[in-house]
Amino acid sequence: MNKPKVIVTRRWPAAAEARLQESFDVTLNEADVPMSAEQLKDALRQYDAVLPTVTDPIGADVLGAEPLRCKILGNFGVGFNHIDLETAKARGITVTNTPDVLTDCTADIAMTLMLMVARRAGEGEREVRAGRWTGWRPTHLIGAKITGKTLGLIGFGRIARAMAKKAHHGFDMPVIFYDPYPPSDEVCRSLGASRRDSIEAVLREADFVALHCPGSKENRHLINAERLAQMKPGAFLINSARGDVVDNEALIQALKNGTLAGAGLDVFEGEPKLNPGFLELENAVLFPHLGSATAETRLAMGLRVVDNLTAFFAGETPRDKLV
Ligand code: DGY
Repeated sequence: MNKPKVIVTRRWPAAAEARLQESFDVTLNEADVPMSAEQLKDALRQYDAVLPTVTDPIGADVLGAEPLRCKILGNFGVGFNHIDLETAKARGITVTNTPDVLTDCTADIAMTLMLMVARRAGEGEREVRAGRWTGWRPTHLIGAKITGKTLGLIGFGRIARAMAKKAHHGFDMPVIFYDPYPPSDEVCRSLGASRRDSIEAVLREADFVALHCPGSKENRHLINAERLAQMKPGAFLINSARGDVVDNEALIQALKNGTLAGAGLDVFEGEPKLNPGFLELENAVLFPHLGSATAETRLAMGLRVVDNLTAFFAGETPRDKLV
């Protein structure tokens, strides 16, 4: 039997590509340049499976490809806000993602951002590299203490819980969260976490607010000027979820006028383009979407896509089936 024809939209770790090639007839994107909407549409006409990433917007137009050959979108990543699931379902295309394997590393990036912005690590590094460091002094680059401070989580899924575990057990942080679908009391207790009834309640109480809600139409600009104004004076915002969950313009204003002490950001509205306002802010730590970027995790993500495809083409339900 012919192997299913599969296209990978961006380069993967070599070992994951090699594993994919063992079972499938694979086309790689050698240049690793994001595909255009037209190229994606064409891929849906020519391949049995398309393996996209967060950099491939797959909306109704792309999914309207005719004649349609693609039967499965095996997303390399946990977030799927770049794929129109409803239209995919209506067109009979299965969509899978890669949860679990990136939980810890993404939570680690949120912790890194929190530590860096609180301790002004980016500013310090820039000073050293620029040759501007004049030596130790009691008033130099004074940051905020993290141990014992309150961490507020908006969304309390897998990644948020991993962050809660690290923050509570490693840094003695009391954790509060808002999530319409909270876990059991036992899980909350084990993470030192208590639920609040609204986003506002978390914003008013937390010293550090970390966003862990999915990107979606409903969550676009969930954190807007009004909500930023409700955060505690001297508080910090951490975003490793999706850029458009925050109104970037409002955030820049809040960082400029001191409503917030600082922000640690791994994701941006319209990335990789950045609102130039961010670049002028000393109190913002800016990462290029590094949440899952470790060798172990990126390999595991690739292998998880391979598992999902293998199950699908064997006539089974892939374990990470979204629709
Ligand atoms: C994810 O897995 O969703 C990461 O943000 C990269 O896509």
